[in-house]
Amino acid sequence: MKNLLAPQTLQFARTPNEGAKSDVERDAILADPGFGKHFTDHMVDICWSALGGWHRPRVQPYGPLSLDPAAAVLHYGQEIFEGLKAYRHADGSIWSFRPEANAARMQRSARRLALPELPTEFFIDSLKELIAADGSWVPSAADTSLYLRPFMFAKEAFLGVRPAEKVNYYVIASPAGAYFKGGLAPVSIWLSANYSRAGKGGTGAAKTGGNYAASLVAQAEAYEHGCDQVLFLDSVEERFLEELGGMNIVLVKKDGTLLTPESPSILEGITRDSILQLAEDRGHTVERRQVTIDEWREGAASGDIVEAFACGTAAVVAPIGTLKSADFEITHDSTETALSLRSELTDIQYGRGEDRHGWMMRLDA
Ligand SMILES: Cc1ncc(COP(=O)(O)O)c(C=O)c1O
Repeated sequence: MKNLLAPQTLQFARTPNEGAKSDVERDAILADPGFGKHFTDHMVDICWSALGGWHRPRVQPYGPLSLDPAAAVLHYGQEIFEGLKAYRHADGSIWSFRPEANAARMQRSARRLALPELPTEFFIDSLKELIAADGSWVPSAADTSLYLRPFMFAKEAFLGVRPAEKVNYYVIASPAGAYFKGGLAPVSIWLSANYSRAGKGGTGAAKTGGNYAASLVAQAEAYEHGCDQVLFLDSVEERFLEELGGMNIVLVKKDGTLLTPESPSILEGITRDSILQLAEDRGHTVERRQVTIDEWREGAASGDIVEAFACGTAAVVAPIGTLKSADFEITHDSTETALSLRSELTDIQYGRGEDRHGWMMRLDA
């Protein structure tokens, strides 16, 4: 749904949070942020209507939303979101990583979910506005960041099944430490045999809540089997690798080739794209193609596939030590390629390494 009425710039109204956390309270949270548990003092809120386009942009105190019980999102799940991080560099400045790519992905998700497309400049402005209010929430300890969560949903109170004519876009933020409890220790993955995450022609390539809702029962099965994450196969032939519940997957061959699934029903990760670019810069061959579970299994057994890792904004890169399924197991000892690419990427994100692709964008200036 294109929005032709959007103004060129948005003037944000700012309402400070009178009950904002004190410096002492905030510092206590930032000392041990966990992941997704604590939220900053403010949030961005922009309205959209079919008649008026994007309007009423504001930064306001973080707090509960008021929703009509008939709001379409509560019934038909018309919702999309994004996830990216703000990083504090050694000189105190605050940066984000490829935010235009998140803006573009949110526009693709919006098209699939029949939601309005938020122009890239509004997306970037919304992040800068939130950082202007809550920049003190960006932690500075090693490997910490402020996770930014833009999201948009159908707010119109209407029970007919059609694209909503009233939508709101928000950004909230949450200080973040390590995503997995074990830090950089290899994670274990459960191969889902009973459930698919996405189907042909479905919403798998969009970042929409329903995909995650559909993955939860499989994720619970993974926990029951002592695994950290779940791996989904394609829903048609049930043999091609797709992705994990919240991360993409990459396999590494003995000759250094990186292999990653290409599929119209997976979320195109910005971390994966960046890691593969860094690998290509180093001279690795990268193959983006269909990969079967048998190819991985046989490659691991013959020694042709030596390593596997998962990647996504939250955990960055996580080496995979084990893939478990009901009737076989794949194990990898090596974590070398994953950890070396991870440190090259995080060096760029935290301003320690050269940003030769122009991926970083300053948010606090
Ligand atoms: C299902 C899924 N796949 C892949 C990714 C990785 O995407 P990105 O690297 O852009 O965070 C995510 C989000 O982190 C995800 O939720």
